[in-house]
Amino acid sequence: MAPKITVVGSINMDLVTLSEKVPKMGETLLGQEFRTIPGGKGANQAVAAAKLGADVRMVGCVGDDVFGTELLEHLKKQGVDVSHVDQVSGSTGTATILVSEGDNSIIVVPAANHSVTPLLVEKKRDAIAGSDFLLVQLEIPLESVQKAVSIAKENGVKVILNPAPIEELSEELLQQTDYITPNEHELERLLQDRDQASIQDKIIVTKGSDGLTFYQNNEEVNLPSYSVEVKDTTGAGDSFNGGLAVGLSQGMSLQEACRYGNAVAALSTTKLGAQTGMPTKEEVEQFIAVNG
Ligand code: RIB
Repeated sequence: MAPKITVVGSINMDLVTLSEKVPKMGETLLGQEFRTIPGGKGANQAVAAAKLGADVRMVGCVGDDVFGTELLEHLKKQGVDVSHVDQVSGSTGTATILVSEGDNSIIVVPAANHSVTPLLVEKKRDAIAGSDFLLVQLEIPLESVQKAVSIAKENGVKVILNPAPIEELSEELLQQTDYITPNEHELERLLQDRDQASIQDKIIVTKGSDGLTFYQNNEEVNLPSYSVEVKDTTGAGDSFNGGLAVGLSQGMSLQEACRYGNAVAALSTTKLGAQTGMPTKEEVEQFIAVNG
């Protein structure tokens, strides 16, 4: 049976501009291309997992504007259950993304994502409770993330917390999660006021082209990333989280699930856009068969 995964998180429309150079403050440049592409860390993780064959429910909010309707339709087409996504009055979340010089910079305006309140999450209790895994990130109010995680824990649902964009997190939240997936910068912030030992066994640090690190029985395990021709890294971390959740919920070991997530992330970077670049289960299996 397909693993049941619930994602509580953000849904954005990404406004993506490709440019050869990053403009300096006050400078105007001519860019190469502009596209609107479905995004948001929550929705990205939901789509990544759905494309890998999981039974995925999304809990979140979009606005009652054109972007909101378009994003709902898109999520449905990708096989994500949107019956727990509310369409609220006002604007949908947006992310203005500049893809340039082999990297990207992003400004998120949360808008409707602010409406994912603890009360709304409580109303979606049954969806969370009936899952194998809960995936959360930090583009919705922190109290709502805490609420979702508490519901998961009360019901024996495993939790993956992707602490992005990073903010100060309580001990309670960290202790209730099973896996925490920061990048190196997020890890540094996470460890500012605490000892790494308190959360070490939950941490999987994603390091882009340098692979990832996790700990098993206090031993550091390093996995390399796959080498691919990178077009756009937007959503690579989200692809990894979706892949990790699917791998773990299918009974893979942590190491196997991390390798699987790495393959999903690598493939996602070969195309432009967050959700547009995400691979299917078959594409990932074929890639792993060839690349190990
Ligand atoms: O992780 C990538 C995502 O971050 C983008 O899709 C954008 O919407 C921002 O939320």
